Amino acid sequence: MKAIAVTPGTRNSIHLQDIPKPSVDDVPAGKGVLVQVLRVGVDGTDKEINDAEYGAAPPGDDFLVIGHENFGRVVEVGPNVPDTIRPGGYVVASVRRPGSSIYGKIGLQDFTTDDVYYERGINLLHGYLTEYYVEDSDYVFPLPETLREVGVLLEPTTVAEKGINHAYEIQRRLKVWEPRKALVLGSGTIGLLMAMAARLRGLELTVASLPQPPYRNSELVEQLGGVYASTQDRSLAEISAARGPFDLIMDATGFSPIIWEAAEVLGKNGVLVLSSITGGNRTVEIDSDAINLSFVLGNKVMVGTVNASPADFRSGVDDLIKAQAIFPGWLDQLLTTPIAGLDAYDDMIRALTEDREAIKVFVEVADNGAKAVS
Ligand code: BGC
Ligand code: ZN
Repeated sequence: MKAIAVTPGTRNSIHLQDIPKPSVDDVPAGKGVLVQVLRVGVDGTDKEINDAEYGAAPPGDDFLVIGHENFGRVVEVGPNVPDTIRPGGYVVASVRRPGSSIYGKIGLQDFTTDDVYYERGINLLHGYLTEYYVEDSDYVFPLPETLREVGVLLEPTTVAEKGINHAYEIQRRLKVWEPRKALVLGSGTIGLLMAMAARLRGLELTVASLPQPPYRNSELVEQLGGVYASTQDRSLAEISAARGPFDLIMDATGFSPIIWEAAEVLGKNGVLVLSSITGGNRTVEIDSDAINLSFVLGNKVMVGTVNASPADFRSGVDDLIKAQAIFPGWLDQLLTTPIAGLDAYDDMIRALTEDREAIKVFVEVADNGAKAVS
């Protein structure tokens, strides 16, 4: 069967690869779930992998099948798969797999302390940009039929969910934390999904991002009842004077210098959540005394977040369902850029690297209405 792969270490090596079709028995203990891939989203990580800045092939292979934002339909299940996962149902598989750290042993490999980590479509494990995959049911999450149009957004949603869920988890230390105001930095897919998650938790929302409004992303923020501000027009200090102080700030800009500005404007007892994967080596001068003083006197927290746990997948499904009810049609508008099939991998990379207006680029691997093939 067909797959989109790269040769890790070689720039722009994206190509079609022929790989064997997996079988439900490839997973031990009768826990295999064979899934027909319907849609796969791509993001900056896939771009970096194709640029040979990131990613590694599984041992024994010289190629890596990419794609981690998956959505598919169950074709066949092993005898020990829970009955929430059944042929014909829609599912999304998670990305990271346990290594040797204790966190993997309790299902929280998103917190691994290992230097090497295993992520499908990213590092040492093949991904989902192919026709079928098989996975252990522990890593497969069922979605209701009503999410079939937007289910491909679940994996990026879980990244936003982990960030906000942990902000609340951390703030249980305050006994009476009642956040009112959230600031999201960045208005790409993750920023928009963080904005959605903040609104669904009843927070007043401000989104700060580089482009000047109005444009599609600023309108999407307004549709959530949020206020959009361009950082070309106003500094974060000015945005905070008008809309803050912020109890929660979440960064998804990919531009690390902004986090120091955010640290300065974070409200007392506030949390600053960092989620940008910045592979570069940018350096900046910061107001270190001022930031330190405000963190100390304000009991503030800065926390990094990567990947997601099963709980974040479950809250992600809940939030997608809620978003469809409260903001009808909003999620669909994120799906700006469909790519017609695995053969069109060139179009996929072009859209990912050149289409500045795209929010989510995703490959239509098979028809959503397709009958499950066994
Ligand atoms: C993925 C995460 C992954 C991270 C680091 C992101 O693009 O969505 O699941 O943990 O990259 O590789
Ligand atoms: Zn990703």
